[in-house]
Amino acid sequence: QATRYEGEGSGATCTGTIDTNHSGYSGTGFCNGDNTDSAFAEFTVQASAAGTATVRLRYANGGTTDRPGDLIVNGTRVETTPFASTGAWNTWTDRTVTVQLREGANTLRWDPTTAGGLPNIDYIDV
Ligand code: GCU
Ligand code: CA
Repeated sequence: QATRYEGEGSGATCTGTIDTNHSGYSGTGFCNGDNTDSAFAEFTVQASAAGTATVRLRYANGGTTDRPGDLIVNGTRVETTPFASTGAWNTWTDRTVTVQLREGANTLRWDPTTAGGLPNIDYIDV
């Protein structure tokens, strides 16, 4: 049973704005990060025990180019998530990645690797 952490939720940091202008999002909006490589999206995730977890992130990239971002879990880079174009800002898709969590609070952050910044981020399910 996954727990949903919304990009606009109290446990998340979105260096940008919480927007509602593209349909299909969950909750009350999505994170529209600033288009710069210094923007990031961060989630604090609770785990009842240490171990492997599946993270499913929902995003939309209506731009024409990839918006890659490093996934940093508790300070350690896990992957560079490609965030390919989804063709439209209201076309959302999922990226699933396996991570190791510790018991208690964990920090998951996506740091863009290019000046385009991140795609719009709706939520993660963990
Ligand atoms: C458009 C779009 C935003 C998006 C932005 C971007 O402005 O409406 O939702 O975040 O492009 O290129 O990042
Ligand atoms: Ca943006």
